[in-house]
Amino acid sequence: MVIGVKYKILDLLTTQGMYISGEKLSKELGISRNAVWKNIKSLKKDGYVIEAAKSRGYRLCFSPEKINPQRLKAAVPGNVYYYVTTESTNLEAKRSMNTPNKSVFIAEAQTAGRGRLGRAWTSPPVCGIWMSIYLEPEISAQVVSQLTLIAGLAVSRVIPKSKIKWPNDVLMGGKKVCGILTEMSAEMDRVSRVIVGIGINVNNRLFPAELADKATSVYLESGKITDREELAKSVLNEFFCLYDEFLSEGLAPFIEEYSEKCATLGREVIIIRKGEQEAARAVGISENGELIIERDGIRETVHSGEVSVRGLLGYN
Ligand code: BTN
Repeated sequence: MVIGVKYKILDLLTTQGMYISGEKLSKELGISRNAVWKNIKSLKKDGYVIEAAKSRGYRLCFSPEKINPQRLKAAVPGNVYYYVTTESTNLEAKRSMNTPNKSVFIAEAQTAGRGRLGRAWTSPPVCGIWMSIYLEPEISAQVVSQLTLIAGLAVSRVIPKSKIKWPNDVLMGGKKVCGILTEMSAEMDRVSRVIVGIGINVNNRLFPAELADKATSVYLESGKITDREELAKSVLNEFFCLYDEFLSEGLAPFIEEYSEKCATLGREVIIIRKGEQEAARAVGISENGELIIERDGIRETVHSGEVSVRGLLGYN
């Protein structure tokens, strides 16, 4: 099944709010009637209630709880841009023009969600928080990666019993519940726009087989359905509060709390440099947010991308 088609059907049903015939859907999307039916069936499995009437077609009667952008606005200094479906909220934010500082792009589903290191980010409809925060900070390019730590801290403050895998994965029960993708555009050394993309698995009940041993959701760890809008609001309130303090004070005020929440510290890590691997122990977080490691009694700092942590997602 082509995943984008499913969401296009959802878009059409949502915007029209009335019956649309199977024939119209199939013509509009260039797919067979049978494919329309299969996609409708899959939407029903996701929790959508879609009525089918013989002579009239399909009508969307109920969507599993959706985020209300007007209500979310209370936690956002800029604008809120809301999508039922989009490729990627990071892409939307990047392509946007005349966007006010501190705006938020949020979607119920992403068809091409992007993760770090060119990976894909699974973003099924109405079960997670897929959002990007658009910022225009007056900071140098070297400092931008610290914003990722700030975002991770904001998320971990609102997700009970969560930990942070340095630099920016949020974990529950040792598995990843949230990922952060920070992208920027800079002119000379001055940063003009930063996009902090946050993906939180909230009410997901299952994951594709290849992710099942690494990924989890708030629901799977707590056994409770969470109100995504409330959670998104809390994350944004925390984030903007931390962000303002970060702009005036830097990262220093947050290091202690970050270190307490950091599951990486005290563990053995593998440092990967120029194809060579070396084992070391993670012992602290520097004032710039780098990981401090110790090997043969010698301490040094390392950047993200150079480190794999034993027992946390992937390195065993
Ligand atoms: C990671 O690889 O851990 C980062 C995942 C980031 C996913 C979020 S979801 C919202 C935003 N839009 C995207 O396409 N990616 C980020």
